[in-house]
Amino acid sequence: MQTTAVEINKKEETDFLPLQGTDYVEFYVGNAKQAAHFYKTTFGFQSLAYAGPETGVMDKVSYVVRQNKLTFVLTTPLRTNNAIADHIYKHGDGVKVLALMVNDANDAWHQTTSRGGKTYMEPTILKDKDGEVVLSGIHTYGDTVHLFVERKNYNGVFMPGYRLWETDYNPASTGLLYVDHCVGNVGWNQMNPWVKFYEDVMGFKNILSFDDKDISTEYSALMSKVMSNGNGYVKFPINEPAEGKKKSQVEEFLDFYNGEGVQHVAIATNNIVETVTDLQNRGIDFLKVPASYYDSILDRVGKIDEDLAPLRDLGILIDRDEEGYLLQIFSKPLQDRPTLFFEIIQRKGAKSFGKGNFKALFEALEREQDARGNL
Ligand code: FE2
Repeated sequence: MQTTAVEINKKEETDFLPLQGTDYVEFYVGNAKQAAHFYKTTFGFQSLAYAGPETGVMDKVSYVVRQNKLTFVLTTPLRTNNAIADHIYKHGDGVKVLALMVNDANDAWHQTTSRGGKTYMEPTILKDKDGEVVLSGIHTYGDTVHLFVERKNYNGVFMPGYRLWETDYNPASTGLLYVDHCVGNVGWNQMNPWVKFYEDVMGFKNILSFDDKDISTEYSALMSKVMSNGNGYVKFPINEPAEGKKKSQVEEFLDFYNGEGVQHVAIATNNIVETVTDLQNRGIDFLKVPASYYDSILDRVGKIDEDLAPLRDLGILIDRDEEGYLLQIFSKPLQDRPTLFFEIIQRKGAKSFGKGNFKALFEALEREQDARGNL
């Protein structure tokens, strides 16, 4: 009897959408040439691949930059009256594609669309002399999409349509490693429907929830649920605004992005002090919490391996859960609209998201929001 029960359990837990991690993040931007230069100069990405008229792609240009396992694609339209130009007109620069690495893009599409996922791209085989890449995709919140990328039979630089992009200007890496998580901001009362989407369509599980009591300041609030795939390689927290005395930061995002979209990409490092020192020296601005945050921090988080002084000087936040601790910091928005920003995170055992920092952090965010006249 017991064996049968275990077997049934195992069967139920079979992951119908096995993901090997984030393949790349694609941004639609107003000027991909300049954006690629920015990501190389400030964040230390390396030139990898290029697609455009010279490679037979006539309507857009894409630059691919990479740092360790982190790959960004920066795409701009060459003409108006197309989906990319419309996306930028509506949203400003932002994330269009969260591409996920799979072993079988055809199966990923069948599994997700048979469970209610809306097709963005039917399974498509791209071929060149280096082999083939299979792509398929579904829509998620807002105009954001997930592409499933199968590249096991491909040995080229990125994918067919791209050529190697070699440059003489190659700024050093800043130690960024991979995507830790990507957060989506959705509209009022839309968090739970999108949680259900990730559960039903993609087989994710809700691993953490924060209500407006957890994430509120005197003035504004939000709610958040963290969705994770089976092996934990892909994590998508979903935020929605909550009622407060003043406007939620999620609402400000929704106003300026003109709808739902990716709020932040969290990027892992093994040495946050070195990485953030480097990023600040290269001109990246981060949110600052008041110096008083550090007065009692070690009472809250206990002993940590790092010296406190550099963390305080850089404005790096610390939090602890049952499994360890984490160090994190948040950039200011990366474009003029108060929309997308990055988080830099170093995990030292902790698998959570810095709940203990929410209040200090959101107060810092509100000061910025207030300065823009949007609180
Ligand atoms: Fe985060």
